[in-house]
Amino acid sequence: MNLNLSKVRKRVELLRNEIKKHDELYYIKSSPIITDQQYDELRSELENLESLYPELRDKKSVTQSVGTKVAKGFAKIRHTYPMLSLSNAFSKEDISDFLIRIKKLIGYGPDDKLELHCEPKIDGVSFSAHFKNEKLNFAVTRGDGTIGEDITNNIKAIENFPIQVDYDEEFEVRGEVYMSKSDFIALNEENSKNNKTLFANPRNAASGSLRQLDSIVTRNRRLSYFVWGGRIQDFNNQHEMMEKFKSLGFIVNGCKLVVDNLEDIISYYDEMCTSRAELNYDIDGLVYKVNSFELQEKMGNISRAPRWAIAHKFPAEYAETCIEDIFVQVGRTGAITPVAKLKPINVGGVLVTRASLHNEEEIFRKDIRIGDVVKIKRAGDVIPQVVEVKFEKRNSEVKTFIFPEKCPVCQSAIESFGDDIVKRCTGGMKCEAQIIEKLCHFISKYAFDIVGLSKQSVLQFYNKGLVKLPADIFKLVSANQTLEQPIEKWEGWGEQSVDNLFLSIEKSKKINMDRFIYSLSIRHVGVVTAEILANHFKNINNVMELIAKDDAVEILKAVNGVGEIIATSFIEYFKDPYNSQIVKNILHFIDVKQVIIVQNKLNSQLAGKNVIFTGVLEKYSRDEAQNIAKKLGAKISSTISKKTNYVIYGSNYGSKLNKAKEMNIKIISEQEFSDMVEENY
Ligand code: IVH
Repeated sequence: MNLNLSKVRKRVELLRNEIKKHDELYYIKSSPIITDQQYDELRSELENLESLYPELRDKKSVTQSVGTKVAKGFAKIRHTYPMLSLSNAFSKEDISDFLIRIKKLIGYGPDDKLELHCEPKIDGVSFSAHFKNEKLNFAVTRGDGTIGEDITNNIKAIENFPIQVDYDEEFEVRGEVYMSKSDFIALNEENSKNNKTLFANPRNAASGSLRQLDSIVTRNRRLSYFVWGGRIQDFNNQHEMMEKFKSLGFIVNGCKLVVDNLEDIISYYDEMCTSRAELNYDIDGLVYKVNSFELQEKMGNISRAPRWAIAHKFPAEYAETCIEDIFVQVGRTGAITPVAKLKPINVGGVLVTRASLHNEEEIFRKDIRIGDVVKIKRAGDVIPQVVEVKFEKRNSEVKTFIFPEKCPVCQSAIESFGDDIVKRCTGGMKCEAQIIEKLCHFISKYAFDIVGLSKQSVLQFYNKGLVKLPADIFKLVSANQTLEQPIEKWEGWGEQSVDNLFLSIEKSKKINMDRFIYSLSIRHVGVVTAEILANHFKNINNVMELIAKDDAVEILKAVNGVGEIIATSFIEYFKDPYNSQIVKNILHFIDVKQVIIVQNKLNSQLAGKNVIFTGVLEKYSRDEAQNIAKKLGAKISSTISKKTNYVIYGSNYGSKLNKAKEMNIKIISEQEFSDMVEENY
């Protein structure tokens, strides 16, 4: 790490801690000690540094809105259904594969026509807004996709956002808040005149402006929005729904198109590639969605994204810069990755300071040396890559990179295994870098999703001997009681942040099987594979039963989507006594939920029925229960009407149950629902 970066890192940490402290003073203790303007300045300085130094970004930083947990100061609201991400496509072939794949899912042949709604992918911050009795009821950020922040007042501060509509049924719109290129330039010009820090790009400016706790600040920053989805009764497809939203006064992007074949998709893409520079807002690709809601429903979701939609990203951007140094990083499975430290360069609005060199062979093949001028490529959110060396610019001072023979962290030998070109640190659980990376993975968003823990705090706990192994995370609460100086007294921590952390740890103990498998850092087992494995095994006992068999790999590799490499890696992991002890220790604290797969059954008791859920369910989350009910053919709504057939209730139910009784609507307890589900396993 060079001096400059370490100074910036210190400043970023200090800003994060300062902001945390002021949030606490303002919102919890109600006794701020700085003005709103001073607070805003701290935030925008941090936002700016985080975008200038991507290596210092941290998903848990106070600046993060999308994909992170709820910030203090905003009330939390649970989404009625998850706000998902999109899978990405980068080429015509990817789109062709996508079409074939989804057509197969619904029994269409490759040449059958399927309508797709094509629209720009707006580079902004997503929101969801709910309307009831013709009025805006509340608006929420995406948050972690399940729970977001209440930004009702901030949404109201956006010009042209209707808060009153001529439609009396409940409905929800989802879309993207953005700052136009011209408003972004004007805002930065003004900030520069007032000696305020500048935003790195319109997206950051939009995010920072929307998430102002004082909505007057939001109002003063000119924000815009486009609606790209939602839920409203009685519409059959995306096109009709968008037209309805438009007629209700919402801004819907005009560059949309419904097509039914690959050629038309590609012409739309080519056209948008050329015209995007003329738009007054940033788009980072296009989105193709199956138009029909019925077909969307049939296709369902995989992992955290719908199967029925895909983001077609724009081509990569290129730039030339110099490699100042090459160093290696140790990953959670010991993989040693060489990384080029670049002379910072702006590529398509993002400051790039590093590029992955993948492995030793890549450095050798491309003849990359320290001091070379190289062409780099940045595509979407992917880590920038070195495309080629500009040999004509090479001077005599370039230095060959010598791949280390020992791990820079634990000094164990670095070796390659079999014909794997990736070299690995052989330190295993002796290597602190691997342990820390594994711990960070364990708590990460798609694993145990423990918020309030950054890599920095994992390191803090590790160095104090509090967390050495995954299971230690669950012992933190009791360990804290025996500490001479409890965590809340440590620098950078406070009572509120410790409370939040402990709450998050507690919540994480009830975990889905796929997340649990993913959390273990098993080689070749990513999010998608973990889901396949979880759906196959259904519970941990079934895993243990298979491990005990001699032909475990043979059996597992026969599972659709698994194969030899994954099966071997998975079985070897569990057969290793050290790993199996780690798993046992974790299982001591947690409750891995049984996977329930309900086949699409359209002849169940719920088929074709209008169903609503009320109260708190024990066995399922609301989303799970609704998804299961949908698979059983039910239509889910949130309000009781004459059309409602069943009300399924949990504990702490509200007035809906009484209303249902008054209206003679059949009520079903969670247990009865659960029995129904079991009948349809
Ligand atoms: S549809 C389930 N349409 O991109 C489908 N998303 O990478 C969800 N986005 O979270 C998304 N423009 O915030 C959709 N026209 C568009 C979009 C769009 C921007 C954002 C959205 C989403 C993210 C996924």
